Amino acid sequence: MASRAHCIVLAYPSQGHINPMLQFSKLLEHEGVRITLVTTFYYLKKLKKLPSSIALETISDGYDDGFHETDVEKQKLYFDRFREVGSQTLGELIEKLASKGHPVDCVIYDSFLPWTLDVTKKYGIVGAVYLTQNMTVNSIYYHFHLGKIQLPLTDLQISIPTLPPLQHEDMPSFFFDKDPALLEFLVAQFSNVEKADWILCNTFYELEKEVTDWKTKIWPKLRTIGPSIPSMFLDKRLKDDVDYGVSQFTSEEECMTWLDDKPKDSVVYISFGSLAVFDEEQTKEIACGLEDSGSYFLWVVRASEEAKLPKDFGKKTEKGLVVTWCPQMKVLAHEAVGCFVTHCGWNSTLEALCIGVPTIAMPYWSDQSTNAKCFADVWKTGIRAPVDEKKIVRGEALKLCINEVMDSERGKEMKNNAMKWKILATKAVGEGGSSHKNIKEFVNSLFGLQV
Ligand code: UDX
Repeated sequence: MASRAHCIVLAYPSQGHINPMLQFSKLLEHEGVRITLVTTFYYLKKLKKLPSSIALETISDGYDDGFHETDVEKQKLYFDRFREVGSQTLGELIEKLASKGHPVDCVIYDSFLPWTLDVTKKYGIVGAVYLTQNMTVNSIYYHFHLGKIQLPLTDLQISIPTLPPLQHEDMPSFFFDKDPALLEFLVAQFSNVEKADWILCNTFYELEKEVTDWKTKIWPKLRTIGPSIPSMFLDKRLKDDVDYGVSQFTSEEECMTWLDDKPKDSVVYISFGSLAVFDEEQTKEIACGLEDSGSYFLWVVRASEEAKLPKDFGKKTEKGLVVTWCPQMKVLAHEAVGCFVTHCGWNSTLEALCIGVPTIAMPYWSDQSTNAKCFADVWKTGIRAPVDEKKIVRGEALKLCINEVMDSERGKEMKNNAMKWKILATKAVGEGGSSHKNIKEFVNSLFGLQV
């Protein structure tokens, strides 16, 4: 019998990137592929226990003690250094694995690390780029890469084939940064994408049909393989899989018991992912909106943000519970949860859609405004909370949004729509579904290499 195909999986070292790539790895492993997950020395410390069938290796990104800067100039230095050091250390790893009798057939790499393709070409192995953000957002960046969107954005409406007309507030935030470094970094993803052997996107065909069809004409190697979320929520084949695998934070599981005695669809779950930082004024407005809504609420306020809570705000009251981190997928899947107030990070977005929970969008930066637009106007499973002239969502506005989603005919429609997406997502990854077929095609091609 031929030996197993062996893939290295290299993610950008952040929670929102490693987690979906790890979930995808588990599916590949289930299909018989040997997987080696590769991370940086610093990120290794954040990894939880991996399934024993997935091997783990480290490479240096040039910052073995960690990189904590948020300054854009320093971020740019990080990306440059990772490219320089990572190109070498990844090559050394490929050689090491080959010398130990585990030659690498394919590297699945995060699109944020496009230099990886040069390494795969050097070693004559397959390079599969994994897009962690959705097709809509990738198409916007690609359009800019082609020079079809000019900065500064002057037209009030941006037209991109197959996408709804986009207002400025729907565009990824980096289009408005004074320093274009982050936009340039994101656009660099597409510098060599056409040369990759595979382009795998963490979305599912039914969710982004038109844009996927359009992009597949341009990138024939594009395949939708998502949603890459813990499979127990979608695909019962992998029953033990509750955990994401990486967490910068410790979950407070007591919230599950707190949810248990709340009526069905009565709780507002509110969380802004691992990176968003709102100021004190915005935090206070959220607190007022939640209290005034009259609904039960479970609010994740990361430890680093807790000091911004109003002084007299109780962390455990008759109506509300504030935790520093929670098992989000389990929370969303709890029947007490009726609505999700989210920053619209792509993982949270997919999780809400796949579990069938309607949303109130409060995008913070990056791709999140575009995801918010899709929630409200394309998938129709949520609304976007309006901001005032200071770009703050006032408590009154949040309260009205909560009341609308939790307690109106329109809210019911959003819930029904969300349930439809849940069914489609489940079908996509199930036996014979669109993503499952694409994953099979990818895996078969890897095994073809083994003959
Ligand atoms: C980042 C970017 O912000 C996002 O825009 C991009 O699309 C992906 O990477 P992040 O801001 O952390 O990620 O948001 P998100 O993509 O939603 O990922 C957060 C993850 O943390 C989700 O998988 C969510 O389930 C998990 N989470 C969040 C918890 O497990 N517990 C919590 O309390 C909050």
